[in-house]
Amino acid sequence: MSAEREDRSSPREPVLVTRSFLPPEEEYLFWLRKAFASRILTNNGPIHRELESTLQARFKVPFLRLMSNGTLAIQLALRALGVKGKVITTPFSYVATTSAILWEGCEPVFVDVRPDTLCIDPALIEAAITPDTTAILATHVYGIPCDVHAIDRIARKHGLKVIYDGAHAFDVDLDGRSVLAYGDACTLSFHATKLFHTVEGGATILHDEENDKQLRFLRSFGHIGDDHFTLGMNAKMSEVHAAMGMAVMPHMDGIIAGRRTICERYDSGLADLPLQRPTIPVGTRYNHSYYPVLFADAIIRERVMSALAEVGIMTRRYFYPSLDTLPYVKGAACPVSRDAADRVICLPLYPDLDPRDVDRAVACITAVLADAQVGVPGS
Ligand SMILES: Cc1ncc(COP(=O)(O)O)c(C=O)c1O
Repeated sequence: MSAEREDRSSPREPVLVTRSFLPPEEEYLFWLRKAFASRILTNNGPIHRELESTLQARFKVPFLRLMSNGTLAIQLALRALGVKGKVITTPFSYVATTSAILWEGCEPVFVDVRPDTLCIDPALIEAAITPDTTAILATHVYGIPCDVHAIDRIARKHGLKVIYDGAHAFDVDLDGRSVLAYGDACTLSFHATKLFHTVEGGATILHDEENDKQLRFLRSFGHIGDDHFTLGMNAKMSEVHAAMGMAVMPHMDGIIAGRRTICERYDSGLADLPLQRPTIPVGTRYNHSYYPVLFADAIIRERVMSALAEVGIMTRRYFYPSLDTLPYVKGAACPVSRDAADRVICLPLYPDLDPRDVDRAVACITAVLADAQVGVPGS
């Protein structure tokens, strides 16, 4: 612990909800020097290929393609799978899940989430299927696995494609298998704020060789050399971004372990308070990518956020708004998602978060809730 950090009287930087992991400079330079030596800066270079095969082996998936970000990863997954018309989707996610559907010229059909996991509720999916429905796009929100088996059964029965937005689900396993391996496609975001990052970046996982071939065309202008096959996009990841990924990769187990320690400290501090935490399904090996907390109502949530901000602890409303309320979508309201979006915040979480800041956050939340004298939500 540095002397500066020990000195609690000095003016302090606000504690942000997340802090990008930076590998030791030398480790990043090691990979950058390779790019300098090869003079290959992009277009499926050697570092890019190495990161692809490293991730593919880590998740034990047949095809994984790096993308320039997690939004294009979803868009190109939809396109590679030929998704058109209506797409059943979750209202409780980051806006990119919905905008990717719209940007691909499809129509999002929102189906509400389960109150426990905040992932799409499979029991509500069948009623939303019409002859125009071609796919289900669900998010493993906060890295919490969707009910993949129920979704799979419904999709097979109705001949629908399943795409998972796994932006938060790096290194999450379900029943001993990467959760990223489920569905016809699964996408990842490697944005700087994510658990694993390449500054900006993402990936699309597919299981079918033909779809994968199509995806590679889509990612790179739809052509190879002078042969043009399809309308394409530029969604390539550069060597400089892939280099960051290779430098971060060896630290992943330590990053997740550090986050687990912080989460356990929050868990024990908040255990007896009247608040709610999303449920992690049995059989999940979780990645501790977020620490969401739901309060009794929006008023208490607002009070907690303000009180934390006053002591320099910044929280975020992940995920707000409920996507069925976006001004450019239509369809039935999703009350469970809207209610959760009103009541939820994410607390600061990163491996080197000072445990005393966790304790300060816990003390502050405890004081606000004692003052409000609220009961446990849902009790
Ligand atoms: C659930 C979800 N999907 C998609 C994205 C989009 O990823 P990116 O920022 O890499 O485009 C994000 C995060 O930004 C996300 O949280």
